[in-house]
Parts: sequence; structure tokens; C-alpha cells
Amino acid sequence: MRILFLGDVVGQTGCDAIKKDLPKIIKEESIDFTIVNGENAAVEGVGITQNIVEEFLTCGVDVITSGNHIWNQKETHEFIIEQPRLLRPLNMDNSLPGKGFTIIKSKTGLKVCVLNIMGNVFMKKSNDMFITLKSFLSDKSLKNDYDCLIVDVHGEITSEKMAVGHFLDGKASLVVGTHTHVPTNDARILSKGTGYMTDAGMCGDYDSVIGMDKQNPIHSFTKGFRSEGRFVPATGEIKICGSYIEIDDKTGFSRKIQPFQI
Ligand code: FE2
Repeated sequence: MRILFLGDVVGQTGCDAIKKDLPKIIKEESIDFTIVNGENAAVEGVGITQNIVEEFLTCGVDVITSGNHIWNQKETHEFIIEQPRLLRPLNMDNSLPGKGFTIIKSKTGLKVCVLNIMGNVFMKKSNDMFITLKSFLSDKSLKNDYDCLIVDVHGEITSEKMAVGHFLDGKASLVVGTHTHVPTNDARILSKGTGYMTDAGMCGDYDSVIGMDKQNPIHSFTKGFRSEGRFVPATGEIKICGSYIEIDDKTGFSRKIQPFQI
């Protein structure tokens, strides 16, 4: 099975690039299943709207993951209840709406489980990531409950994401990081068969500060306060970044993983 995992889509121009290019990419690369992190997809660069979710699904996305910005658009609290293909981190407070994992059939009929989890270091408060993953795996496993398991680790620091990769080695098909908006050059298959990449990067304008127009962040870092209220997404040329993975249908483990960048 060929899987495309795309990193955080940033703002309107990021969404436009996905709508324009993704159907062609899926067709040309014979992609069976597509996952996109959409937590920065709204016009403001934080959160996601119902309209964007529907547009992503229409152009071929199978599951949308998220992270710390999932609740930035007020409407998300409502529509996420009815939308099983939009995930919020599994280790958020249990009383919050939405789900942290879902099992969806691929084009070829295989059961793909996508799980979204959020780091504990330098991130908003959430339940312990490793305890949450251990609990999930206590009654679910590869080949018994799903044919492959894709995990989006939305986190700030490299070491924590790498530890999750090794923690899930032999239990997941792919562990890929999101949130830093910078693609890492470490795509590899771990010793027990799990594909791993520390960060998928973003689908956004890289002539920016992690997707945002650079002037206000530079002002903020140099003067200690923002020149304008909000950071706004940069609107230059979009680079689509993520990870391309081939998974062995029989074992559920990765056969090939490489960065994907257009
Ligand atoms: Fe994030």
C-alpha cells in the first residue's frame, strides 16, 4: 500500500495548493491512502473549518490530523463530533469532543488506523503521551484490529518524537512528526519495521517564519512584542512537504519511506 502523509497545511494558499495539486499527485503516484495535518489550515493559520475539512476530503484526503491548534476555530467543537475523518490528539482531555484515532478502509480494502497524539514537552497540557499509547495498544494490535497503523506525533522536540518512534517500533507501520513545520532529513525504517520521520514539514510558504509572514515574528523576537496583533500566513509560493511510504500489505510494516516535497 502506498501512503502519502503531508505535514501541516498553512493558511489559504496552503489549502489552495492542496486542492489544486493533490488529486494529480494521488493519481500520478498511485497513492492508496492520504493523510494531511490540517490544524493550521484556516485563513488565520490556526485551526480548521468544516468547509476546509470537506474540501480536503473532496480532493482525496482520507484522514485529517491536528494538534494544539485544533480548537482555534470555534465551530470545530461542533462539527468534529460528526466528522470521523478529522482527528484531535488522543491524549487530550477525555471530555473534549472528537476522536484521537479512526480506522478507515483504503481504496484496496485494507483497514488503515490513523492515530493522532500530542507531545508533552513545550506543548499545551495534555495527558502523558506514552501512557496513552500504552493504553491504546493494550487492546489493539497490528493485523488483528487493522492492517496498518499510522501515527502522527504532533510535538515540538526531536528527542520526544524519536522516543515515540522507537516505543512503537514493531507495533506501528509509520510514526511521523508534525508541528515544527520544518521537514527533517531522517526518514528511515526502524529495526522492527516501523517507518519513521521526525517531522514531515509543512505545506506552506517557506519564505516565512514557520509559515507566517516574517516581519511580525522578527519584530516580536527583536523588540519583545508584536508589531501587529496576529501573525498572518505568508502568501508566497507553496511547497508541499511530507512523507511517502510503501507498506507491506501482509506484515503492515514499512518497505520504503522517503521525504515527499514538491
Ligand atoms: Fe501545532
